[in-house]
Amino acid sequence: MKLLIVGGGGREHALVWKLSRSTRVSRIYTAPGNAGTASLGENLPIKAGDINALADAAQKLSIDLTVVGPEAPLAAGIVDRFQGLGLPVFGPTAAAAQIEASKALSHHLMQKYGLPCPPGEVFSDYSQAQRYVKDQPLPLVVKADGLAAGKGVTVAHTRTEALSALHQAMSERVFGAAGEQVLIDQCLSGREVSLLAFTDGTTVMPLVPACDYKRIYDGDRGPNTGGMGGFSPPGFFTPEMAQQAVEAILEPAVRAMAAEGCPYRGVLYAGLMLTEEGIKVLEFNCRFGDPETQVTLPRMKSDLLEPLLACVNGGLDKVKVEWDTQPCVGVVMASSGYPGDYRTGYHITGMDGTGPEALVFHAGTRIQEGQVVTDGGRVLAVAALGDSMEAARNRAYENVSQIHFEGCYYRRDIAATEVK
Ligand code: GLY
Repeated sequence: MKLLIVGGGGREHALVWKLSRSTRVSRIYTAPGNAGTASLGENLPIKAGDINALADAAQKLSIDLTVVGPEAPLAAGIVDRFQGLGLPVFGPTAAAAQIEASKALSHHLMQKYGLPCPPGEVFSDYSQAQRYVKDQPLPLVVKADGLAAGKGVTVAHTRTEALSALHQAMSERVFGAAGEQVLIDQCLSGREVSLLAFTDGTTVMPLVPACDYKRIYDGDRGPNTGGMGGFSPPGFFTPEMAQQAVEAILEPAVRAMAAEGCPYRGVLYAGLMLTEEGIKVLEFNCRFGDPETQVTLPRMKSDLLEPLLACVNGGLDKVKVEWDTQPCVGVVMASSGYPGDYRTGYHITGMDGTGPEALVFHAGTRIQEGQVVTDGGRVLAVAALGDSMEAARNRAYENVSQIHFEGCYYRRDIAATEVK
């Protein structure tokens, strides 16, 4: 089969790496890809948001399956367009992708179908939102309704912070139309887990759970990033808890989407929190996580193509996926200055020095004059399996220490709490 992977980050390199191991896959194209995906197939110079050009390429290249990584093209209707042309594609339709692309829609869905979630309210009127904030117990989470490239969520510990977040979204319109509505949730406390599941619209098959690290600095300090590392599985999230989350959250969400007339097919990502009152869902995403993908796919023993095809064609109940019991730890290496301004174009050395047991997933990289250079804020992630979380962690960091580029920054505490 010939595959097209849409996107160009670490998640997409991990997808390409895993799919390249399938005996059924003969060729993989990635659009736009990075230096890592180029080493496993061919990159196409097409942006992930250019749906027409992607559809043209899929037709011309006789692609047998397109797998969409990022949320923006999903929300913009890439799956609908491909389906309209008879092109097989993995991912939810634009209507189903609203589960991530509209926080208001997902909040209403959670409320209507009784999914355990934080108490909250949706506002489209700025003054009403301001009045609500003045009465609510702190802290609060203010979320712009639409997609805001990961920047639309503020955890407000004071009323001033909450009011300022509202001002930015609803008055200054810094997120454009994405901030026309806001969701204001109570901020719960507890540990967070990402639990993703494949679904063909009926069957829900969870992947192994993972945790990510959103803040830039050790100890979860500093601004939010796209994710600075992760590990799988979290020891504090038992298989019984995972089963409970599937039954109380993921399966009802898939049934709810079908009942609402927008059946969900693809991978559904539930951002969970383990609170004293039980497991709650904080958000849904309509895609694979980044960097969760980089620490879960190395643990998948089965062929990834099988569940992907079953999500597209139905019959996921007949697919069996096996997982390695070995934990996996992934450490993201970033450009100095990220998530603020940073420079690119620095030569990356030492990747040949990493051991065979470590996987280097590129994110912001490109090839320049035959050399791999930095090309983004998150440059790459080093993932390693081990007999224990400690072994996986040590191995990941040993391999990180082999790789160099000017201004390289990484967190030193990825999975540290998981090591006894
Ligand atoms: N790891 C967070 C995300 O993929 O949205």
